[in-house]
Amino acid sequence: MKILLLGSGGREHALAWKIAQSQKIEKLFIAPGNAGTASVGENVPLKADDFEGIKTFVLANAVDMVVVGPEDPLVKGVYDFFKQDAQLKDIPVIGPSKAGAVLEGSKDFAKGFMQRHGIPTAAYRSFNGTNIEKGIAFLETLQPPYVLKADGLCAGKGVLIVPTLEEAKKEFRGMLDGMFGEASATVVIEEFLSGIECSVFVLTDGKHYKILPEAKDYKRIGEGDTGLNTGGMGSVSPVPFADKEWMKKVEERIVKPTVEGLAAEGIDYKGFIFLGLIKVDRDYAYAKAGDPVVIEYNVRMGDPETETVMLRIKSDLVDLLEGVAAGDLDTRPLEFDPRSAVCVMMVSGGYPQAYQKGFPITGIDEVQGSVVFHAGTALKDGQVVTAGGRVIAVSSYGETQQEALVKSFTEAGKIHFEGKYFRRDIGQDLLKA
Ligand code: AMP
Ligand code: GLY
Repeated sequence: MKILLLGSGGREHALAWKIAQSQKIEKLFIAPGNAGTASVGENVPLKADDFEGIKTFVLANAVDMVVVGPEDPLVKGVYDFFKQDAQLKDIPVIGPSKAGAVLEGSKDFAKGFMQRHGIPTAAYRSFNGTNIEKGIAFLETLQPPYVLKADGLCAGKGVLIVPTLEEAKKEFRGMLDGMFGEASATVVIEEFLSGIECSVFVLTDGKHYKILPEAKDYKRIGEGDTGLNTGGMGSVSPVPFADKEWMKKVEERIVKPTVEGLAAEGIDYKGFIFLGLIKVDRDYAYAKAGDPVVIEYNVRMGDPETETVMLRIKSDLVDLLEGVAAGDLDTRPLEFDPRSAVCVMMVSGGYPQAYQKGFPITGIDEVQGSVVFHAGTALKDGQVVTAGGRVIAVSSYGETQQEALVKSFTEAGKIHFEGKYFRRDIGQDLLKA
């Protein structure tokens, strides 16, 4: 099987690493990929949203399947582009249709979907320029802190959590005034949920589903979860509180109604579903303390969660993806690796604010027993250099989470580039909990 994987981050290197191990893979292409994906497949200089370029490449190289890493091409309709093209329509695209990608592309749609299907999520209302005063009145009915969300995609920046009512009103008006451009022309205001987060990943063929290993990511730049939000500083899998009983609730109350709801609404969805969940620590109208509640849907895998989730899938990922395409996912085995996996993300100095790129990276070859995933790297005159804020993820197995963590940051210590930084406390909150 010849696969084209779209994307260029750590998530895509982790997917590529796993796909490349398959018995079924004949050739793996990554568009555009990074310096790391080049070591497990062949990079193709095409942007992930250059659909015409992708078409030409797929036909010229007899690609059998396209796997989509990031949300952007999905929201732009890459699935539909293939389905509607006479030459491409029989080549499966792993990822939802444009209508399905709206689960991530519009928070208002996602909230409405959950409400229609009885899926537990924070109480909310949506507002736009025509009903600002109603939004202000709704804010006055809520308890602090206040959660304001731009409806559309904002590269992970569209959620504001605001401590006081005065600030919330000001930010709400600012969002409607174009703080995030068109993306905040509609704003979702919702109840704040208190608890601990967990990312759960589902693979579906539209009818059947498999729940992949869950993970937790660490978004803040500083140790002890302090400082600015980032794209993710590391991840762990498994998540100790996501035990059998909790995952049963996730499956019954969230996964099943999501997959059934998509089908019932006639939405073509064959791909990954990322459930951003919170285990709430008190009672709400729609959940008891300890229960899972949905914060958000994404229509792709998480980054840096994929950098641990892929380590924990023992089965052949390509076989599972074939099951998605064929609609017989229920017949494909999914076995987990019982060990813990921890990913430590090495980032550029200054990130998530301004940082410099282009610094040579050394020591990658010294790493032993861990898996190095490239996130923001490039090849320059044969040398691997930094090319992003998140640069390299070091993922490790351990018999315990602690063992995996120590392994990851010990190995990360062998990799050097100017200004490098990483957190050594990934997963520590879970050990305390
Ligand atoms: P999202 O972009 O929807 O993932 O939101 C970004 C982050 O904001 C989430 O990962 C949570 O940490 C936080 N968040 C979003 N919605 C809520 C909420 N209703 N209550 C508490 N935290 C939230
Ligand atoms: N790690 C969160 C995300 O990928 O959106």
